[in-house]
Amino acid sequence: MMVFKNIRFVTNDMDAMRRLYAADHQDTSWPSHLRSLGAFETWLDQWDLRGWLEDGQIEVMFASNHEQAIGYGTIVRVPAEFAPDDVTAVEGGSYLSYHARGVGLNQQLKSRLHATAAVQYQANKVVYAISLDNTRARRAMLNLPWSCCEVTSDMPNSPWYKFLRRRQWETQTNISLYVFDLIKIFDTSPLTK
Ligand SMILES: CC(C)(COP(=O)(O)OP(=O)(O)OC[C@H]1O[C@@H](n2cnc3c(N)ncnc32)[C@H](O)[C@@H]1OP(=O)(O)O)[C@@H](O)C(=O)NCCC(=O)NCCS
Repeated sequence: MMVFKNIRFVTNDMDAMRRLYAADHQDTSWPSHLRSLGAFETWLDQWDLRGWLEDGQIEVMFASNHEQAIGYGTIVRVPAEFAPDDVTAVEGGSYLSYHARGVGLNQQLKSRLHATAAVQYQANKVVYAISLDNTRARRAMLNLPWSCCEVTSDMPNSPWYKFLRRRQWETQTNISLYVFDLIKIFDTSPLTK
């Protein structure tokens, strides 16, 4: 098992993302819609714009004993019309390089995303949309030390149903949502922890 020391994150490090793409884009778990260089560069431009608008960001993950980034997480605001009433939500996404999986780094990545969501976006919920056939990512959700609620497409009465339908339409994939309550995670304010 590989050891990853002194984990740190850099926001919107697009050059590191390009190097990660070069190393990982043929991995079967690399996001399939970002496999071509053109699609990936367009996607990076979108995150640049989101960063400028303070609408979202990429958190690039590094370990001191690895030259290259070992993964990344994304955060983007959920439009108010798709979030449940009185909820400020962001959507999270995550990717770990093949050798960085299964060693507990997912928790560190999600911790970073949750703290960013609470402090920078004043969010009280983080939601992850995961394809039903991504068994690994769905099981990984259950390994995290925080409880979450799963919303599926047979739950039309869920306040998250509208967002679920939107994300299914956008991705043309059957998905589940995993919703984390940041108030419960941070107890009071993340700034006090
Ligand atoms: C999703 C991801 C961040 C999870 O991190 P991780 O370090 O793999 O997570 P964990 O080790 O906590 O859990 C992985 C689970 O999948 C299981 N697993 C491992 N390989 C698997 C495989 N090929 N198929 C199905 N399950 C698998 C593990 O056994 C573990 O489950 P268990 O603890 O119940 O046995 C990481 O796998 C990843 O980056 N995958 C590629 C990108 C992706 O799918 N992102 C999700 C979209 S948000």
